[in-house]
Amino acid sequence: MKKKKILVIGSLNMDWVIPVNHMPKEGETILAESYIEIPGGKGANQALAVKRLGGSVTMLGMVGDDTIGEKLISNLATEKIDTTKIEEIKQINSGLALIYVSNYGSNSIVVLPGANSRVDKNYIDKNIDVLKDSDIIVLQMEIPEETVYYIIEKAHEMNKIIILNPAPAPEYLKNELYDKIDFLTPNETELEKLTGILVNDINGAIKASKILLSKGIRNIIATLGENGALLVNKDTCVTFRAEKVKAVDTTAAGDCFNGAFAVALGEGYSLEQAIQFANKAASISVTRKGAQPSIPFINEMKSVL
Ligand code: RIB
Repeated sequence: MKKKKILVIGSLNMDWVIPVNHMPKEGETILAESYIEIPGGKGANQALAVKRLGGSVTMLGMVGDDTIGEKLISNLATEKIDTTKIEEIKQINSGLALIYVSNYGSNSIVVLPGANSRVDKNYIDKNIDVLKDSDIIVLQMEIPEETVYYIIEKAHEMNKIIILNPAPAPEYLKNELYDKIDFLTPNETELEKLTGILVNDINGAIKASKILLSKGIRNIIATLGENGALLVNKDTCVTFRAEKVKAVDTTAAGDCFNGAFAVALGEGYSLEQAIQFANKAASISVTRKGAQPSIPFINEMKSVL
């Protein structure tokens, strides 16, 4: 089977990662000891995951005309990702993310979208041939919502497989888009926001996923952190256990999951196998620090395939 071409359209950010003993509460000031700059952005992380795990990937997105933008592009190019269509926008900063990582690996992220906010319909139209030439389109929500919706419409017209990682979760998804999404991959927080259902255990996740299914989304794959993943579609409702690991930093675990899932799907694996593959990749990523440095390579995944 011919390898499917994967197109990731989304954000590129520079992450400023600050290790903290605990997450600051509202109104609280805490002291940290260091910070480190690491390339990230949900779009770029997912593209990198595709590439490192053996997929064929092109990335569309935007950076500012600053040194950060240069670093973000050259970092992806070094990994041999096709970055030729990523645009550098004048007089705006590249995307930045301030990430607090706690002692026990959880995180809290504030994103300043910068150039990511300029990814618009015109840019998509300009690159419509890239969309035409791809098989699987991977999207997240760190570029403007209207652009994501426009891409979904276009990609659906072209019969592409659409994976939407609704991160960060919008208040709601446009009703007319539901049946155009092949795979929606929310985490617990996103699932809760999209449905208004409390998701603090597996039953909550199932209930919320079934609501999305009833609205027309074909497959909901909820990522549940250490509890693995949940697949809900018209034929099944099944959970996939995550490997027990010692998490040091969960940043980009979801991105790793999405990229890995797209690769396995593109290689022709079954849905269940693709989720197991993605689970494994995500479980490796949480044992390492940072967004992009944590993403595994295909040779670390042999045991799953
Ligand atoms: O999913 C992790 C990513 O979210 C980080 O790399 C950060 O840039 C934010 O986009």
